[in-house]
Amino acid sequence: MKSKFTQIGFVLSAAGSAIGLGNVWKFPYMTGENGGGAFVLIYLITIFFVGITLFIAEVVLGRLSRTDPVGTFETLATKHGKKWKYAGFAIIGSMLIASFYMVIIGWILKYMYEMFVNLPSTIEASSAIFGGFVTADFNMQFILFNLVFFIVFFIVSKGIKGGIEKANLILMPLLILILGFMLFYSFSMDGFGKSFEFLFYPDFSKVTGKTIITAVGQAFFTLSLGVGTIMTYGASLSDDTNIVKSSFQVAFLDTFIALMAGLIIFTLIFQYNAEPAQGSGLVFISLPTLFYQLGSFGNIIGMLFFVALAFAGITSAISMIEPSVFFMIKRFKFSRVKALFAVGAPVYIFGTMSLMTNIDNLKRFVTYFGIGFFDILDKLTTLWMMPISGVCVAVFTGYFVKKELVYNLLSKHMSDTLFNIWYFAIRYVAPISVIIILINGIIGS
Ligand code: PFF
Repeated sequence: MKSKFTQIGFVLSAAGSAIGLGNVWKFPYMTGENGGGAFVLIYLITIFFVGITLFIAEVVLGRLSRTDPVGTFETLATKHGKKWKYAGFAIIGSMLIASFYMVIIGWILKYMYEMFVNLPSTIEASSAIFGGFVTADFNMQFILFNLVFFIVFFIVSKGIKGGIEKANLILMPLLILILGFMLFYSFSMDGFGKSFEFLFYPDFSKVTGKTIITAVGQAFFTLSLGVGTIMTYGASLSDDTNIVKSSFQVAFLDTFIALMAGLIIFTLIFQYNAEPAQGSGLVFISLPTLFYQLGSFGNIIGMLFFVALAFAGITSAISMIEPSVFFMIKRFKFSRVKALFAVGAPVYIFGTMSLMTNIDNLKRFVTYFGIGFFDILDKLTTLWMMPISGVCVAVFTGYFVKKELVYNLLSKHMSDTLFNIWYFAIRYVAPISVIIILINGIIGS
């Protein structure tokens, strides 16, 4: 990332990072598992009051320091810089996420092909195909994981500007178009009303400490917060980019896509009387049956959907690798290739271990304290590392960075009133609410 982003390039790349499997795969299944509307409401509130605030803070920090996250904390701190630099090691979280995330992109590649040749006609048939693949077909999953790994690292090796900005420009609109078409199609189904109700009518009796922490974790995950990604992108921002406007645009696009995906998927679920709380197989099991309903046209739409999803996933995966690579280059003066090997080795090992978690006769080797490695990585990063690192970003920006620096940067793009609201949110609302939720989560679990 030697050159700087243009404003549109930044919005696209940050949106490319934010919009990914978290929106189309994770958000719907988590909503299903956590009872619907109340979960969605907590998620939306977190995005609005904490997510956007922190997103702006991460961009500001990166933009002010123009270096990697570790260096950012170290150099911008008014005091205790040597200690604060450890907060920058949150970039490890993005490597851990990349490991299991690329396994899922592998599943998506398989489904691109599967949609083209064989659409299941019932949820039961679909469920059997997915189950058979994920729990028994190690070889295929491993080949696909390797392929994804190679693609992602190849793109990062080229630097992210050229290819990836262009890919985003074409594929993000394509994803929106396909989802738009599917949403339109779901309007005509009886399940739509129930889906709407499920997502937007909160039933607070279903809320527990776990629901709240899961919704908050998902809000962090979907905006790629707390792992140095947005900070790293902020470091390559051009001087005149409107940070505030861009941040709102990214958050809006991201939320819009998640809600769209949720509406579509739950329409199908209710249409075919399926179970909303299916877990991580939701997208892979229920969607293919809708494609089947579309007749031969369904093969093409199904394939395109998974193509677009694969690209959404790849643009996110790239953004998980870049912070650590950028760190190695900046701090240790590694060449990009050397940095890629240093980052690639652990990601490859952890990815393979995550993959083994789902395979029936291998899972015992990668289960610790009764929890599979895949879930360990997922829960550790999303429920703990991201929120805790979010608190660090908030406290750091609010109390350890010179206010004038931040004000000078942001006041070009926001009124004084808005700045004061944001500054209040970063000093009090974000850290306090996230800490309370974390404590609540610890007590509740
Ligand atoms: N925001 C991505 C998604 O919703 O799929 C996931 C993600 C990307 C998490 C980049 C963390 C990250 F650094």
